Amino acid sequence: MQGLIDHGIAGRLFLSSNREKHLDDIYKIYFGLGQTLTLTHTPEVFKVSLAGIRLGHYLLQSARPRTLNSSFLDIGTGSGVHALLMRKLGSYDITATDICKKSITQAKINEDINFEKSSVSFLVSDLFSDLPERQFQTIAFNPPGWRTPSQSLIKHLEMPTQNGQLPIRAMFYGDEVMSRFLEGLPRYLDPMGVAIVGLNSLVGIREVLDKYNQKHNNQPPLIYRLIERHTLPLIHYSTHWKALEKKT
Ligand SMILES: C[S@@+](CC[C@H](N)C(=O)[O-])C[C@H]1O[C@@H](n2cnc3c(N)ncnc32)[C@H](O)[C@@H]1O
Repeated sequence: MQGLIDHGIAGRLFLSSNREKHLDDIYKIYFGLGQTLTLTHTPEVFKVSLAGIRLGHYLLQSARPRTLNSSFLDIGTGSGVHALLMRKLGSYDITATDICKKSITQAKINEDINFEKSSVSFLVSDLFSDLPERQFQTIAFNPPGWRTPSQSLIKHLEMPTQNGQLPIRAMFYGDEVMSRFLEGLPRYLDPMGVAIVGLNSLVGIREVLDKYNQKHNNQPPLIYRLIERHTLPLIHYSTHWKALEKKT
């Protein structure tokens, strides 16, 4: 199991039971305050990172009856983690998207593992592009943590591996996707709603926000603030990428 201990320090706990050892593709996440999810893993889908667990913990702590009784949109849902956590907390109007079809398949499997019946609307979409025209009260996005990669890294990352690999879009282009997300957001966010974004400093938070402000002559349509700051270890999200770093 990986997750948070209740006073909030991000950590990894490895259980030594045989079941955990042999089912490497099943993992449990603890978000604190008694909330756990069981997820399945496949190399083509983003495995929940410490940053994702942190974002889940924030959603958990900040959830109020008003939030849970209204609509929730999870952009770039990956394994479905935050959509499913919100469902655990009692939210019932949940939509979740990912650009990667395999993620949506996996997220549906994960809903099936954690709940008797499916209720989340999972759909493949590049950000908001294939969403029905509506506004959401809460929108969450844990975007890719790394910037647009160099052409030479793209070439290496695109080399096929035997076991399947994480799409480049799941790990990189965080700067580009954040800028597009901010532009599309006002149309899908309720005027009284809130968007919660987990931004990795490697993406260049200041640059993304400066670009956003400049584009709108320093009068952006949305008010924003930094809520929390966490220092987390640097990780390579896929074994393929990690192996490349050793070679180069
Ligand atoms: C860092 S992962 C986060 C996954 C999951 N939300 C979590 O916290 O574990 C980023 C996710 O965003 C998805 N993504 C990247 N670009 C996207 C886009 N343009 N539209 C929708 N999803 C996108 C990726 O496929 C990946 O699943």
